[in-house]
Amino acid sequence: MTWLITGGAGYIGAHVARAMAEAGERVVALDDLSSGVADRLPPGIPLVQGSSLDGDLLKRVLAEHAVTGVVHLAARKQVGESVAEPTRYYQENVGGLATLLEAVAGAGVRRFVFSSSAAVYGNPDADPITEDTACAPMSPYGETKLAGEWLVRAAGRAHGIATVCLRYFNVAGAASPELADTGVFNIIPMVFDRLTRGEAPRIFGDDYPTPDGTAVRDYLHVCDLAEAHLAAARRLTGGASGDLTVNIGSGRGVSVRELMALVAEVTGDTRQPVVEPRRPGDAPRAVASAALAGEELGWSARREVAEMVESAWRGWRHHHRATGVG
Ligand SMILES: NC(=O)c1ccc[n+]([C@@H]2O[C@H](COP(=O)([O-])OP(=O)(O)OC[C@H]3O[C@@H](n4cnc5c(N)ncnc54)[C@H](O)[C@@H]3O)[C@@H](O)[C@H]2O)c1
Repeated sequence: MTWLITGGAGYIGAHVARAMAEAGERVVALDDLSSGVADRLPPGIPLVQGSSLDGDLLKRVLAEHAVTGVVHLAARKQVGESVAEPTRYYQENVGGLATLLEAVAGAGVRRFVFSSSAAVYGNPDADPITEDTACAPMSPYGETKLAGEWLVRAAGRAHGIATVCLRYFNVAGAASPELADTGVFNIIPMVFDRLTRGEAPRIFGDDYPTPDGTAVRDYLHVCDLAEAHLAAARRLTGGASGDLTVNIGSGRGVSVRELMALVAEVTGDTRQPVVEPRRPGDAPRAVASAALAGEELGWSARREVAEMVESAWRGWRHHHRATGVG
């Protein structure tokens, strides 16, 4: 078995590649390094630099490395950017996926794991959010993930490829500081960014119908997420056929205030958060049902939120010392 991991030099991809290699899987990474960092991969994992839009390269890589399964993480992932540049997002996220699936089908690869996102749900009322909750993405980014799932399932049916679509909830943390997420797109890096600038963190809305009035979300340690990929890969090597679409979340709700308290504990910065008005479209509560992941993948999140925040902070400090920012 050799697994091709697209986006393998990215934040999540590098964690997945390492976790799979450590578990004894043979792994090769493909990444165009548009936001990835080659050094995230240890020397034992080969990295092919190139794009999921390059069909000829994909065919070559699948053949040369005798690839038998693909974990596809390569994508653009910024919601705001997707609103400004929808055609680029559809081209990279859906076009790149179509090119890859064509190469996969042509090469006779029969196992495919796709990085989807809780963004496919939009802001549903459901609590918890199950895989049957209606999908209504609120950005072109979320649309590309939903269209991606449709395409994965259709190609799977047409070409006899067994598929798993993983809908990740809010991912943070790092296995080691060098592997940290360097972008500032999610709440945890955003809070670190404010603190590093000497500013108080912001809470958007404290009048939601939740126990402390702030919005509740499902946070997942990236190492738990990497283990979910390994579980998905093992399901496919174990002979599973057909398709599976599954939430990858902790199933545990954490409020923004609870998260801020953990950040204060970890950073030692006890500046009081500033409360600002709610942002339009933010749901009071968005927490995964993790039941199906338990049943189908034998997987559940094991790590505490505090551990996730601590490792994210170590990564933030490492990166900011290294770049001299902040
Ligand atoms: N980070 C999150 O919270 C989150 C949540 C849900 C889903 N996801 C999905 O997980 C995946 C990985 O996200 P991440 O957070 O690691 O982001 P990331 O930007 O760190 O990783 C994406 C990687 O893909 C590479 N890449 C992008 N377009 C490419 C292309 N066309 N060809 C080859 N390589 C390409 C980038 O260089 C980068 O290394 C993405 O599909 C993203 O949509 C992430």
